[in-house]
Amino acid sequence: MQVITVYENGTARQIEGTIGESLHRALLAEGGEVDSPCGGNQKCGKCVVKAEGALSEMNSEERRLLGSRADSFRLACFATVLGDCSVTILPKAALKVVTDYQPCDAGGETVYSEGFGAAIDIGTTTIAAYLFSPQTKEPLASAGEYNHQQKYGADVITRIAYSKEHGVGVLCDTILHQLSDMLKGLCREAGVSAQELRTLVITGNTTMLHFYAGLYAYPIAIAPYTPASLFGDWYPSLIPEFEHASIYLPPCISAYVGADITCGALASNLAERGGNWMLIDVGTNGEMMLKARDMLACCSTAAGPAFEGAGISCGSGAVPGAIDKVTLCEDKVLYSTIGGGAAKTLCGSGLIDAAAIYLNLEAINRNGKLKEGKSLNIGDSRVTLTQMDIRQLQLAKSAIRAGIDTLLHECGIEYEHLDGILLCGGFGSYLNPCSAGTIGLIPQEWVAKTSAIGNAAGQGAAMILQSKTALKKAHQIAEKAVTVELSTNRFFLDRFMERMAFGEEILSPGRRASKTAPDRNG
Ligand code: FES
Repeated sequence: MQVITVYENGTARQIEGTIGESLHRALLAEGGEVDSPCGGNQKCGKCVVKAEGALSEMNSEERRLLGSRADSFRLACFATVLGDCSVTILPKAALKVVTDYQPCDAGGETVYSEGFGAAIDIGTTTIAAYLFSPQTKEPLASAGEYNHQQKYGADVITRIAYSKEHGVGVLCDTILHQLSDMLKGLCREAGVSAQELRTLVITGNTTMLHFYAGLYAYPIAIAPYTPASLFGDWYPSLIPEFEHASIYLPPCISAYVGADITCGALASNLAERGGNWMLIDVGTNGEMMLKARDMLACCSTAAGPAFEGAGISCGSGAVPGAIDKVTLCEDKVLYSTIGGGAAKTLCGSGLIDAAAIYLNLEAINRNGKLKEGKSLNIGDSRVTLTQMDIRQLQLAKSAIRAGIDTLLHECGIEYEHLDGILLCGGFGSYLNPCSAGTIGLIPQEWVAKTSAIGNAAGQGAAMILQSKTALKKAHQIAEKAVTVELSTNRFFLDRFMERMAFGEEILSPGRRASKTAPDRNG
């Protein structure tokens, strides 16, 4: 065994590694927090560490991915252990997590009468948690963090692949310990003991709930996409130091439309709105639900991690120093950063703004081709948008837009018949609808009808905690919603190709003859 000295958060420790093992693998086995959107598959170039000692030579691919940082850094999944070595894990910037909450009265009794309760939304990227008492409608404390499972991959498919190879236990343990720490923090802040926290409602997409429950998730990733459970029941707690609590996991709708969308629909009162409305959670998986006449149709489209900043050369999540807004003022490209400091990276909302601005300036054409050179600087910053970044954005926006078109098509709804679009989730809260319309992520005529509703999944989970009526409604939503499977849907596949171009072409959803609910299998 070789000795690897790990420097992390100002502390040093020693772990063991074997010859030929990647630093990434050795670190993960010992709880190291390395950013790894591609799950250690040598694709994303984000597992940057400082490393010295007996390690493999840098190859050309690692050098290409590191670019100008190749003189000082290594990528943990490329560098293999040849003997004793040391590695410094770079500090992770604090992520801006949406934990806003709108007090609401869902009616009826709370699902708990004793002690305190918590509502948690386990997102693929972030986790939001809120602590309540039966007497209060507002949270006593709230918290938001990165999902620590990110080190096993940025999206659900990469994490499922990791769990297939290494077992689901590692992902399960990661989330359970993170939830335990978050809950202890909430209790501390509110002056409540862990024993007094008795009831939890935990929502998330279907894969996140599988990892929470320790269920084998691989069948979700392969046709016919059959989850081990769709939840929708009470379960014993697995969370360390909170084993005494009762846990309710709201119902999922299908393999890729999870309890987060059920809760989002509940929080937005989607099913009971008059007219036709669409709820969209834009993330690595774009989950969406359309309420059309008396139908609820939903789908999920694999947008990939570009909106989370992964796979983008200067990309990052919503961290300090990330460009989050780009505007044009008298032909000058201006930008703002999270925290107001120097621009270091580009997060999803900034990426969409930048693409929209440079499209308007004709520096990028409708097909996504840069007019000159291989990259564009954002304003006067050193943050760039490369040709490859634009291609990643086209793939992501095309997946979302083709999903929107397909749901409308399946329900026989034209764009002008839609009364409004509700964007939920962290990314949806920061997205500029005008930029989204310019690049064609949403139809241009919807820009004025688009509103952000914050963390609707967390809000819905809190509503369930506070109301037996809301719990019942969540089940009604999940039972009524019909999933349109996109992977075999001809219309979706055609639209996906057509929507790769930027901007808006007059391509209506095309009315399907039927005015009844779409088939369960599309
Ligand atoms: S390149 Fe190492 S985790 Fe993606």
